[in-house]
Amino acid sequence: MLRTALILSLLAAVPACTGSKLNEAKWKAAGAEAVLPLKKSLKGALVSGLENGPVAAISTCRVEAPKLAAEASLGGVKVGRASGRLRNPSNAAKPWMQSILDVYETDPERREPAVVAIDKNTVGYAEPIFMQPLCVTCHGATLAPDLQTKLGELYPTDQATGYAAGDFRGIFWAELPRN
Ligand code: HEC
Repeated sequence: MLRTALILSLLAAVPACTGSKLNEAKWKAAGAEAVLPLKKSLKGALVSGLENGPVAAISTCRVEAPKLAAEASLGGVKVGRASGRLRNPSNAAKPWMQSILDVYETDPERREPAVVAIDKNTVGYAEPIFMQPLCVTCHGATLAPDLQTKLGELYPTDQATGYAAGDFRGIFWAELPRN
């Protein structure tokens, strides 16, 4: 009897020891705020880039996207994009993102923003990106021939075509310091 009580009290102590239960609502709000500048600046660069036609916009995107991600990464916070079907290999998912990406990819019912404890100092945030009609120009099933050529030159391993509007495309992610 005493032993059972002892085991029960030990079990009860376990969650307190790990101590890493996240306040999900708080971290989701922080993550959404962290990725917002990148979302806005990318959209702005895309829209103004497209004014000169999609082929020119690819060059803008290639130069601007990494720069905008770096600029939006401030004060120990890092942000970026990732996808299971990459155009630019440097957008590859880090290990903590992979399982979230897999869920988004396979389960349309579970495409809410997500948070995860990466380690004791860092929280990871991810939110899904969906294709809009505008995106199909450069990520759709049939691309203009000159666009196809340019993409082939710049991204010889491009996997990010064949999408339709509404499709799940990838994630915006943030790494947030815990303190
Ligand atoms: C003008 C052509 C163009 C349009 C339009 C466009 N993209 Fe892209 N997209 C690119 C290029 C080029 C890259 C690679 C950027 C880089 O080098 O970092 C890219 C990369 C991405 C990535 C990062 C993952 C990867 O595969 O490297 C995501 C996610 C993405 N695009 C989603 C979208 C969405 C959503 C839209 C519509 C809002 C969109 N794109 C519209 C050209 C385009």
